[in-house]
Amino acid sequence: MQHLPAISFIGGGNMATAMLKGLAALSPRPRLTVAEPMAEKRAALAALGAEVVADNAVAVAAGRLIVLAIKPQMAATVVPGLAATWAPDKVLVTILAGATTAKLAAWLPPGARIIRAMPNTPLAIGQGMVGLCRGAHASADDLALAEALFAPSGRVLRLADESRMDAITAVSGSGPAYVFRTAEALVTAAEARGFTRAEAELLVGQTLAGSVAYLMQQGVGQAGALRQAVTSPGGTTAAALAVLEKADFTGLWSAALAAAEERGRELGRG
Ligand SMILES: NC(=O)c1ccc[n+]([C@@H]2O[C@H](COP(=O)([O-])OP(=O)(O)OC[C@H]3O[C@@H](n4cnc5c(N)ncnc54)[C@H](OP(=O)(O)O)[C@@H]3O)[C@@H](O)[C@H]2O)c1
Repeated sequence: MQHLPAISFIGGGNMATAMLKGLAALSPRPRLTVAEPMAEKRAALAALGAEVVADNAVAVAAGRLIVLAIKPQMAATVVPGLAATWAPDKVLVTILAGATTAKLAAWLPPGARIIRAMPNTPLAIGQGMVGLCRGAHASADDLALAEALFAPSGRVLRLADESRMDAITAVSGSGPAYVFRTAEALVTAAEARGFTRAEAELLVGQTLAGSVAYLMQQGVGQAGALRQAVTSPGGTTAAALAVLEKADFTGLWSAALAAAEERGRELGRG
């Protein structure tokens, strides 16, 4: 595992807190600093073992990896303010949805090294999926550092081309919502079959958890084989799957991912 330098977070919200939990458990633990404007949030961040400051410039000065973890709409206000304390050895790791490295670079001194990351919410329990790519001035070593930064929070996929970030967003960034929506729909459908809410949540929750654990143990490439093993010809599962196939299940997913990717492109332009 790569040795991590001092890490500073700009913004101490949900994503930063999740990453801090994983990083704080590392041995040796890197120096961790968080800049967070809300006084009420600072005590909880300090309890995670981070040095907590109110001033972004202080956080930038303290770190070599600077994680930008604010809301995207705050970028134009916050990022130009980081330029005064910027130094050539620093690497900005941005998790902002839709903000390109070129857009962020325009607010920082020329040549600023930027890595763009697209995490997802299971990062909160160390089970995130993170897409990573590098901006024009970031090196392969910078990318490796960013990979080590996210290692305690989940799995990482490196992308050679930043334009693929919108597709990553569509698949894994937004992906947890597809699973949660599926859980909601199955619970509602189970209730309609006469189960109480609690019974439906137990049945659906354990079926999802058990099926995903089985799939991961066998390999995602085995999904088709595992499905066939449950599906006897002319049986109950086949009857249910026929309903989904009639609605063009794969085509529906394809259209959903295309819509998410297109929306990502639009937001990036805006
Ligand atoms: N959640 C996801 O599924 C997901 C997935 C991928 C990427 N992301 C990206 O991750 C980023 C962070 O998301 P999040 O859910 O962690 O947001 P969040 O909980 O709202 O955290 C943002 C934090 O930044 C702080 N902040 C606001 N203005 C600041 C300033 N001027 N200087 C320093 N800190 C400031 C906020 O403080 P206040 O509370 O005082 O405003 C808040 O604590 C977003 O850009 C999002 O696009 C999120």
